[in-house]
Amino acid sequence: MRKPVIVGNWKMNYTIPDALELVKRLKMMVSEVKGREIVLAPPFTALSSVSKALVGSNMTLAAQNFYWEDKGAFTGEVSAEMLLDAGCDYVIAGHSERRQLFAETDEGVNRKVRLALSSGLIPVVCVGETLAERESGETFSVIERQLTTSLRTVNISIPEDLVIAYEPVWAIGTGKTATPGQAQEVHSYIRGLLKKIFNDAADDIRILYGGSVKPENIDELMTEPDIDGALVGGASLKADLFARIVKFKVPEMAKDTEHYL
Ligand code: PGA
Repeated sequence: MRKPVIVGNWKMNYTIPDALELVKRLKMMVSEVKGREIVLAPPFTALSSVSKALVGSNMTLAAQNFYWEDKGAFTGEVSAEMLLDAGCDYVIAGHSERRQLFAETDEGVNRKVRLALSSGLIPVVCVGETLAERESGETFSVIERQLTTSLRTVNISIPEDLVIAYEPVWAIGTGKTATPGQAQEVHSYIRGLLKKIFNDAADDIRILYGGSVKPENIDELMTEPDIDGALVGGASLKADLFARIVKFKVPEMAKDTEHYL
C-alpha cells in the first residue's frame, strides 16, 4: 500500500514571516487530513522557523536542494547534516530548474541521492523530459537515462525511503498539465524501471507527478494507478489551493482507496 505524498515546493518565495503565515493558514485547513503525507519545502532561510511551526502538526519538512559533501570549503552550499539539523525529513534532488539553470547533472543527482539516503533524508528524485524531447519521441529514453544514472548503486532499506517525481519540463509553471493518461504512461514506465533496480520493493515506492498541479486537475490525476501524489509548485504558495490539493478526492472504485481516507 502506497501512502500518497503531496509536496509543496515553494521555490525562491517567501520571507520567514510570509512562510509562517502560510503555515498558520495551512494548519487550520489540513489538520484533519489523514492517510496522506503533507510535506512543505520552503527556501533554506525559512526551514528552521517552519520546522518549529510544524511541531505537533501532520506536516513535515523538505529542503529544495543540498550539496553532496559533508562539510568544507563549498561557499554557498548546504549539507545534508545541516538540513537534518534544521528539521528536514525530505530533500528534493535534481529538480529540472536545478538541471537547467544551475547545470546539475544525473551524476551529481546520483551523489546527492546516495548521500541523502546514508544521512537519513528521503530524496525526492525529479526526472522529466523537455517539450523538444517529447516531440521527438525521446521521452522514455530521457527518463531511463535520468533515472538509472540518478539511482546507480543506490540501496534502500525500505521503499518509503525513496520518492520519485515525474515532472515533464514543459508542464512546470506553464499552466499546461500532462493529461492523466500521459502522466500514467510515464509513471508506469518508471515503475518498470524501478522493478529492474529494486525488484518487488518497486511496488511500494511512491512516484509523484509534478507540473501545473492545481485543485482543478488533482482528483483526476490521482485516479491513475501509478500516481502516488504530487510535487506542487505555484499552487503550493496559496493555502486554500494547496489545502484543496492535499484533500484530493478519488472516486470510489477508481483505485484501491482503502488507505486514502
Ligand atoms: P508548478 O511547479 O506546479 O508551478 O508547475 C512544479 C515544480 O516545479 O515542482
